[in-house]
Amino acid sequence: MRQEIREVQQAMARQGYIAEDEIATAVYLAQQMRKPLLIEGDAGVGKTEVAKVLAGLLDTELIRLQCYEGLDVNTALYEWNYQRQLLRLKIMERDGKSPAELEDIIFGREYLLERPLLQAITRHDGPPVLLVDEIDRADDGFEAFLLEVLSEFQVTIPELGTITAEHIPRVVLTSNQSREIGDALRRRCLYLYIEHPTLEKEVQIIRRKVPDAGERLAEEIARFMQGLRGRELYKVPGVAETIDWARALVELHRDHLDAETVEQTRGCLLKDQHDVQELDTEAVAALVEHALSTDTPAR
Ligand SMILES: Nc1ncnc2c1ncn2[C@@H]1O[C@H](COP(=O)(O)OP(=O)(O)O)[C@@H](O)[C@H]1O
Ligand SMILES: [Mg+2]
Repeated sequence: MRQEIREVQQAMARQGYIAEDEIATAVYLAQQMRKPLLIEGDAGVGKTEVAKVLAGLLDTELIRLQCYEGLDVNTALYEWNYQRQLLRLKIMERDGKSPAELEDIIFGREYLLERPLLQAITRHDGPPVLLVDEIDRADDGFEAFLLEVLSEFQVTIPELGTITAEHIPRVVLTSNQSREIGDALRRRCLYLYIEHPTLEKEVQIIRRKVPDAGERLAEEIARFMQGLRGRELYKVPGVAETIDWARALVELHRDHLDAETVEQTRGCLLKDQHDVQELDTEAVAALVEHALSTDTPAR
């Protein structure tokens, strides 16, 4: 591995993020090539966290645009502060100003509410990290608009004119693949697919995020999770669930797994009624046995 990539990997580890070569390489290249990084993968595999860690790495601000169904351009870019504008108008009416004068005043920068995309463009102190989180939840129309913003990094506000970015933001987009992202956006980005962690990686994550768990428990949890993900589930648990569960087990003063505790704490792992029912006593016993067996050493 190249020294530069190893350094990225180590810097990410210092931020609490365990990145294999592929992730570290993608983050490194996105920086070098000044390209947005599109990250896809199941829920909870560590997509959003990459953007947070990157902001920490670059010691800059993280600006987050959380996407959702019905997200519109105004909410993402800017809005006028109508209430303040109205108030100002009322106050000024008494002074007998002309309509043109009034307009000039109430459409000034101070009445502009900057939403995440505009914030990312107008930031003065060096480039921020712009996280466009869960882009698959927004619709095609919004995606097309975003593509435009990402290629120009400038925005035209009719009342104010065109605002161009002083510093091109570092962009991370994530998608849970609930909708297929268009080719045009894909082509503009570097692409990273994050899989559920390997056994070894998950042990490292638990050790890092829940140090009180201890080595033995961390390995058993990771092995249990590997087995659990191999089952037919509606909602496959991600790393977030692993960490929650490890914390819960530490709270309960466990230093190893046993079937009874697992059954009692299923709610940390599975967030779907059918999945919880699926994981009955028999299934738990089999998974715990697998977790305790050392035929599949973690290291
Ligand atoms: N490689 C990793 N190293 C450390 N923590 C991780 C890693 N991957 C995921 N996590 C943790 O798992 C949780 C879920 O990650 P997140 O980025 O929110 O997932 P996603 O955005 O893919 O749904 C976070 O608390 C994050 O810190
Ligand atoms: Mg996320």
